[in-house]
Amino acid sequence: MNSIVNLDTQFTGFSVKPSEQYPERLIELTFPKETLDAFFAATEEWPVQALEYKSFLRFRVAKILNDICGGQLQQFLIDTMVDRGTGAILFKPEGLDDVSRAEDMVKLTTAVAHSYGRSNYDAMSGQYYARFVVQNVDNSDSYLRQPHRVMELHNDGTFVEQDTDYVLMLKIDEQNMEGGNSLLLHLDDWEGLEKFSNDPMAYRELRWSAPPSKKVSKEVFHPVFDLDVEGKPIMSYIDQFVQPANYEEGNWLCDLSESIENSPAIHGIRVETGNFLLINNHFWLHGRDKFTPHDGLRRELMRQRGYFTHKKTLRKPTQ
Ligand SMILES: [Fe+2]
Repeated sequence: MNSIVNLDTQFTGFSVKPSEQYPERLIELTFPKETLDAFFAATEEWPVQALEYKSFLRFRVAKILNDICGGQLQQFLIDTMVDRGTGAILFKPEGLDDVSRAEDMVKLTTAVAHSYGRSNYDAMSGQYYARFVVQNVDNSDSYLRQPHRVMELHNDGTFVEQDTDYVLMLKIDEQNMEGGNSLLLHLDDWEGLEKFSNDPMAYRELRWSAPPSKKVSKEVFHPVFDLDVEGKPIMSYIDQFVQPANYEEGNWLCDLSESIENSPAIHGIRVETGNFLLINNHFWLHGRDKFTPHDGLRRELMRQRGYFTHKKTLRKPTQ
């Protein structure tokens, strides 16, 4: 793994290694049971509702987790999330693997996210996180909850005005599931990056708007590509919510979509119940593979998206 983070370090309260599922880019971080027992004991007085009502408690649970980890977790997360070589972590909390522990799962993800950032208000749920269920039949107006097809690769936050530097995706429950792995594509591994990011269309302001379920009625305008502080391309793109103004934009976007979806560099990642993925939203695209229909199919997920509070986002400071 080409990372600025030293994965041979012995940390207190957690351990890291390259993920066997994707050793080139993805770090696996394990919280042993002792760390989790200490964390849940120390935060017992605050149910998730308390974290919803009082924003500052999200940072307090982050501090408690970091203290249990000898003060080393926070810096590790900050360094890893802005490291272009990885910027992706699969968290494995030992023993936290049943839907009956859903509250604990949300609390732990909150502590992790508020170590390096702050989770944005999620208009879909009205909270700083959103839990949602995928079932066999769905009548919603986007592909988010439709099981039997691929959810194409995209960035989050394309149709909101808030900075969306990270995406955290937790698996709360899964019943009768076959397929449905998370899909990840790192921009630097996508063979179309040079061609599309150097095209004049890459920096044209496009219009983005979402369907009613997202509860975001305002349109936003931004290009698909931007540059980070080192001059490397970053993206803010989703196929369903970009609204091309004309023939030229529409066809360029269609070519872009085909190039991304057909990339051999896409990796499917299996996320077990209670585990969660955390990615840098600027240089990773994410999606979900299709899964097999089943009458008893049920999957519950939670997401948090937000901005970095320590090292700022990789966008240019002029923006
Ligand atoms: Fe997403």
